Order: sequence, then structure tokens, then C-alpha cells
Amino acid sequence: MDVNKKSRSDLKGQEARILWLTGLSAAGKSTIANLVDMRLHALGRHTYLLDGDNIRMGLNKDLGFSASGRVENIRRVAEVAALMVDAGLIVIVAFISPFRRERAMARSLVGPGEFIEIFVDTPIAVAEARDPKGLYKKARRGELKDFTGIDSPYEAPENPEIRIDTTLTSALEAAETIVSFLKMQR
Ligand code: ADX
Repeated sequence: MDVNKKSRSDLKGQEARILWLTGLSAAGKSTIANLVDMRLHALGRHTYLLDGDNIRMGLNKDLGFSASGRVENIRRVAEVAALMVDAGLIVIVAFISPFRRERAMARSLVGPGEFIEIFVDTPIAVAEARDPKGLYKKARRGELKDFTGIDSPYEAPENPEIRIDTTLTSALEAAETIVSFLKMQR
């Protein structure tokens, strides 16, 4: 018998997926991603979380925030996520991933229905008011260049599988919506 994506995910009793969360800094991607991870784990799913805040400290610590740095950041993350799908996992990816082209490239690396794009939609004014790391303030003062939403573009998804309006939905509700979507797909 061949060992492949299907046999590996069958052994885990699940269907492999990429749950790709995109949105501005401070939109709430990491919070929602962590809740989804905990919820799926509690349901006996085999998951792994890739988050910009930690991948950029290790695998991608050589990359900055210029357009080319971001393209390479997302290229590597997409390749890693696709390998994890091949291993049969449900991979949760939480990166700003500001460019449509790179998100489409990530989608193209896995099979139909395996890539679920989740737009964590938070207006810039709301993200800026939260500013948990003080980065928006720094960017406004001109101390941080190429900041997403200020002097670097964010291209919102046109047809995401799921859109979360964080001004109307709590992180917990958002996580439930995502987990329900996965259950409905089966
Ligand atoms: S991405 O654009 O390349 O996808 P990624 O998700 O990896 O970004 O990293 C975003 C995180 O890096 C932000 O949440 C923030 O904490 C930090 N950061 C540091 N500099 C910048 C910047 N210029 N623009 C956006 N985020 C930045």
C-alpha cells in the first residue's frame, strides 16, 4: 500500500486542511487561531499552528517587512503548511499575508477544498486603537517603516471561505464559526 496524504490523514481519522487567517496586525488572528487550535485538539483532531509572531523568530528570522521580505515569508510558510497537509494535519496559519497573489499561491499548493481562507476583518481604526504592542504608534511617529495599513498595503480577500467581522464577533464565536465550517465540510 502507498503511503500518501490520504493514508496519513485516514490514520488520523481526519481530512487535512490549511486554515489560513489573514488580516491586519492586531486584527485578532493569533487569538482566534489559538482558540481554534485548542478546540480542534479537544475534538481529537491533529493540528499545528504556524504564527507570524513565532515563525519570524526562527525559520524566517532573516526576513524583514519590505514587499520582497513578506513575499518570501509567505512563500516559505505556504510550503511548510503544504508539507504538513501532506502529513495529514490540520494546519492553522496566522500571518498578515497582505498580498492576494501570495495567498493564491498558497492555495494552489494544496488540493481543491483543502485551503480555507479566513479574513479576520478589523477596520484599521479599531486595530490601531487596540495597538497591543505599540507598533501603530511607532509607525505613525515614523519610527517603523513599511507598516501594514499605514505605509504598506493590505489587499483584503475578495472571496474568502469565511469572513469574521471582529467588531461584531467575539474571538470565541469566531473560533466556533471556523470549527463548524470544518464539520460541515465532512
Ligand atoms: S507578513 O506581512 O509578512 O505576513 P507577519 O504576519 O509575518 O507579516 O508578521 C506580522 C507581525 O510582525 C505583526 O503582528 C507585528 O507584530 C510585527 N511587525 C513588525 N514590523 C511590522 C511591519 N512593518 N508591518 C507589519 N507588522 C510588523
